[in-house]
Amino acid sequence: MKKIVVAPSILGVPYENAPKIINELIKCNADIIHFDVMDGKFVPNSSFPIEEYKYIKRNVDSSIIFDVHLMVENVLEYVLLYIENKADIITFHYEAVNKKEIKGLIEKIHNAKIKAGISIKPDTDITVLDEFLDELDLVLIMSVEPGAGGQKFNETMLDKVEYLNQKRIDNKYHYVIEIDGGINKDTGKQSVNRGVDYLVAGSYILKSNDMKTAIKSLKDYE
Ligand code: DX5
Ligand code: ZN
Repeated sequence: MKKIVVAPSILGVPYENAPKIINELIKCNADIIHFDVMDGKFVPNSSFPIEEYKYIKRNVDSSIIFDVHLMVENVLEYVLLYIENKADIITFHYEAVNKKEIKGLIEKIHNAKIKAGISIKPDTDITVLDEFLDELDLVLIMSVEPGAGGQKFNETMLDKVEYLNQKRIDNKYHYVIEIDGGINKDTGKQSVNRGVDYLVAGSYILKSNDMKTAIKSLKDYE
């Protein structure tokens, strides 16, 4: 069976506590850290100004992989910022950019030897990404409206996962499929069964009283 990557979202964790929580998450077998960046414009909420990201990075082991999910309007500005500050994966939203800009953004990220991802909101048709799929390292399917943790999983998003999985098989594309929003043991299993590789989970892990068991339950397919 394939290996599932569990990516806890630390949205909502006060930044001063984040290094300690991240270390615990890694001890509990989290694979990577999902880092949500919100500008208060693309989505109503704001999260993690760059100074907080820098503080967190400085205070955790440099081997920890930061999977940065940009929910921002000014994509280029933030892409450059997170390149400079050594994110490992940078994912931006299709809805925030002009189609013409996309290849250039992916190239900038790749030139910095960073993995490039695109995310789409629930109402966006998956086929808009067709022409970019061969370049992408990651496609992030939002299974809730971006902007807040603790929302209910939208099951119809699994059709997008299946589409991406089939495209990948047919064309030998290399991207991983990530899903974000309302992931728990059950919705995680459904997602993996349809082709997801990376499970983002915020409240399910962070609000559990046993993070190790919660993470294990998301990986119980191997
Ligand atoms: C929502 C964020 C998510 C969020 C997930 O816009 O992108 O990463 O933290 O939280 P849960 O798992 O609680 O839905
Ligand atoms: Zn996210």
